[in-house]
Amino acid sequence: MSRKIKSCFSRLFPKGAQIIAALLAILLLCGGCSGSSSGTSETVRIGVALYSQDDTFISAVTQQMEQLAREYEDQNGGKINLNLADGQRNQTIQLEQIDRFLDSGCDVLCVNIVDRTAAAVLIDKAVSAGIPVIFFNRQPVQEDLQRWDKIYYVGPKGEQSGIYQGEILLQKWNQEREQVDRNGDGIMQYVMLEGEPGHQDALLRTEYATKPLIENGVALEKLASDTANWSRAQAVSKMKQWCQEFGSSIEAVIANNDDMALGAIDAMKEMGIDPLPMVVGVDATAPALEALEEGSLLGTVQNAPDMPEILLQLSLALATGQEVPETITIQDEHYVWLPYHKITKETIRQIVP
Ligand code: BGC
Ligand code: CA
Repeated sequence: MSRKIKSCFSRLFPKGAQIIAALLAILLLCGGCSGSSSGTSETVRIGVALYSQDDTFISAVTQQMEQLAREYEDQNGGKINLNLADGQRNQTIQLEQIDRFLDSGCDVLCVNIVDRTAAAVLIDKAVSAGIPVIFFNRQPVQEDLQRWDKIYYVGPKGEQSGIYQGEILLQKWNQEREQVDRNGDGIMQYVMLEGEPGHQDALLRTEYATKPLIENGVALEKLASDTANWSRAQAVSKMKQWCQEFGSSIEAVIANNDDMALGAIDAMKEMGIDPLPMVVGVDATAPALEALEEGSLLGTVQNAPDMPEILLQLSLALATGQEVPETITIQDEHYVWLPYHKITKETIRQIVP
């Protein structure tokens, strides 16, 4: 194996996975082992079905997957075909795309399912075709994942991101109470911008974000809460209403993701709210990190930064019928849980050098 290929592996495949990844590449390059139905042994074909390509977080994940796949190809000469399909938030459209992926001989599917309660039909199609499925970011119910042993879910545990948001608020509340408790009543008046109804991350973040505060004896008053469907534009209009209603009595804005946190900041700036209250989001998107540097966003939570790499590694292993790399821990036979990271102005340098 050439030095060039080895150095690629050390970057793409950390620690123990390198050995397995190296074996995998040899198998891919030698041919005859791709597990592909068409017999094109050097090419691994991954069908990536997205709930919506215009989602900020999802498009960042897919861009990173594409970049990693290109790096992998450049270094070892094997080919990874990443076929992306935009489900346009429509489960019927997405199922047609899955049919097309299966008909055209994909080796593995990565699915960001539109309706996470409707995975059974999709899984049955994959089972009939004998093609493994890795769900990510939008978590199907457990019974569906258990329909076949080649069905996986890759993602973080939503409750953890909520807890981190609450901890960020708690720290600020304890350290700068006079500034953040604007009316000085010892109660944190907050509004909650929720993600898409029924999404596990929206439900769990909403439920868990207040827990660290309550557990540490902070009295809370919820002024308002509503969904803005992960969307910056919807958050702007929701927040404008709340600013008219509550003005500067809002002491904290808890948003289930960064796009909505940024929408809230846009609205408050436009409405002349100064100084801004505490605002927290989730994802650590590029514009959110800028807002953090600027000081308008108090904190965010990095959303499974290793997801693109894990999706690719797992896809390659499943497509070629190889063992799953040791660096990937599969729990309860179907779940690969990935970590979140708490990000504030003090810790931002850990992810943006
Ligand atoms: C992210 C959101 C994103 C959603 C899409 C969530 O985990 O935080 O920004 O819109 O996933 O499914
Ligand atoms: Ca108060």
